[in-house]
Amino acid sequence: MAGKILIIGACGQIGTELTLKLRNLYGNQNVIASDIKEGSRELMESGPFEPADANDARRVEALLDQYNISQVYLMAAMLSATAEKAPMKAWSLNMDSLFHILNFAKDKKIEKVFWPSSIAVFGPTTPKNDTPQTTIMEPTTVYGISKQTGERWCEYFHNKYGVDVRSLRYPGIISYKTLPGGGTTDYAIEIFHGALKNNGYTSFLAEDTGLPMMYMDDAIKATVDIMEAPSHKIRVRSSYNLSALSFTPKILAEAIQKEMPEFKIAYEPDFRQKIADSWPSSIDDSEARKDWQWKHDFDLESLVNEMLGGVSEQLRAEK
Ligand code: SER
Repeated sequence: MAGKILIIGACGQIGTELTLKLRNLYGNQNVIASDIKEGSRELMESGPFEPADANDARRVEALLDQYNISQVYLMAAMLSATAEKAPMKAWSLNMDSLFHILNFAKDKKIEKVFWPSSIAVFGPTTPKNDTPQTTIMEPTTVYGISKQTGERWCEYFHNKYGVDVRSLRYPGIISYKTLPGGGTTDYAIEIFHGALKNNGYTSFLAEDTGLPMMYMDDAIKATVDIMEAPSHKIRVRSSYNLSALSFTPKILAEAIQKEMPEFKIAYEPDFRQKIADSWPSSIDDSEARKDWQWKHDFDLESLVNEMLGGVSEQLRAEK
């Protein structure tokens, strides 16, 4: 690898595990973590960390120079539910940080960019099942509007300036190492903590709300795979549909009950129900499977086993 990797937003839910994986693959000293706050002990101790605000272009530029960075993973963002409470702040964080990085790539300061998009780019007028790669997109959340706009800009910078930017429309990502920060799909993580701490959970989404979901390891694999693929294979320069599973709170609760028969679930939908209702239930990701051979590994059963195992271990360690 010619230069080093900078991960912005490295201490978040995906950033944490992505940083650890990239350090494992490319060497601890070659992967620089940055965030406004410090992260987990494992992350802080395994390689370099630099405090940085994703919106502070001068600070980011200084890090690019200091470490001879050639690739940036821009993982900082305000998620769907939190963004609804601070629309302008969310817009500024989600958009300005992307413009800074796209412009650095345009000016040849960096060679390759990863920027995540989301199923939130879709809206109530989008076909709900097996949502195609190219379809109607009228997102109704600030987060969704920012991601859709970001996708357009990524494609624009690629077409107009040859910027090598790559992107995935992540579904809800399920993991236990670091908690997500205010998403609509977070119930599918909280449910495991509820099950193991209280034998029960009250879901903020209704029982039949189907959403596309994925275990963290698959999301990390997809991210590494799309970044390692030869440039000519990346035909979609907005963002690829990416899919593994699709389930409802009821289906997930039943899968947990197979392992923990005494687990009880209740439903009290709140403002996040409307956001979930505007998103697809399942996604057609055949373009990613065809273009760069994407394939997921985790099904519902293995996801539930990993989550129950991982969260129990954490609870034991906290005692
Ligand atoms: N998991 C995200 C959210 O719920 C979707 O990208 O906001």
